[in-house]
Amino acid sequence: MSFLLPKSMDRPEKKMPPRRVTPASIIAVGSGKGGVGKTFMSITLASAFAQAGKKTLLVDGDLGLANVDVQLGIAPETDLAAVIAGWVELEDAVTPVDGGSTQGGFDVLPGRSGSGALAELSSDEVARLAAGLSALALQYDQVILDLGAGIENNCMRLARAADKVVMIITDEPTSMTDAYAFIKVLKGYAPNVEQVIAINQCETRAAGQRTYEAVSRACQTFLGFRPALSGTIMRDDAVREAIRSQRTLISTDPSSQPIQDAIAIAHTLLSEPGQALHC
Ligand SMILES: Nc1ncnc2c1ncn2[C@@H]1O[C@H](COP(=O)(O)OP(=O)(O)O)[C@@H](O)[C@H]1O
Ligand SMILES: [Mg+2]
Repeated sequence: MSFLLPKSMDRPEKKMPPRRVTPASIIAVGSGKGGVGKTFMSITLASAFAQAGKKTLLVDGDLGLANVDVQLGIAPETDLAAVIAGWVELEDAVTPVDGGSTQGGFDVLPGRSGSGALAELSSDEVARLAAGLSALALQYDQVILDLGAGIENNCMRLARAADKVVMIITDEPTSMTDAYAFIKVLKGYAPNVEQVIAINQCETRAAGQRTYEAVSRACQTFLGFRPALSGTIMRDDAVREAIRSQRTLISTDPSSQPIQDAIAIAHTLLSEPGQALHC
């Protein structure tokens, strides 16, 4: 497998922006359990960063069960499976997504659902993919990496490429225990990756805070550190409706509560000096 095929003579040279001196901050979105809202949050964070003027890349890191493209309602011509097959270079698999009226356009590196090749990448291939993403990050201000469910090695290898992982957790005990398992395994595997928590699908803010306290207390007791809370996102059927219609909620109803909550989290994630968001 090659991520850097020799440039064919007849392939048009893709115009990429000039390389930055410092790489983008890479934020991975993880959870352990599936179906908690990682892809919804990844897309919303990417849109929020883009609307704030950050050049943003959203990577579908759910190898084998990718669905960023489905939630965005796009049909990309190429994707990570083509990269793995050696047909295109990593940067040539990037697809621009129009932000519509919101001016929040960003780039996507799509996956391919049902791709056995992506689902069964060897550890070397994932390590090379992670290295390729780190190199590609030089061309962006912000990279969002939507991870798959589970805590297996390949998921951790991708997560290790991130500066920060946002754990999406709901109040279901299975979500909380799977998230704790993810946090524990990643802490052992990549201790320098900062881990923060966002509680999704909250019925009330107080309930979200309680869920956070339960998980973070377990981390403090058994792992010796307490991940910070980056925010709570309220449950709203509008999220499900937007996904069903394959349109992003941030473009159709930017004032809805889950979107306002996610934008607040985007502010928190970029709250380091010099990284402030203005949206
Ligand atoms: N804040 C929310 N309010 C209501 N439903 C939500 C919310 N976030 C996610 N969901 C529901 O959870 C489902 C799974 O979301 P998704 O982003 O695909 O999860 P994951 O990527 O973790 O598998 C969505 O189809 C939607 O119905
Ligand atoms: Mg997903």
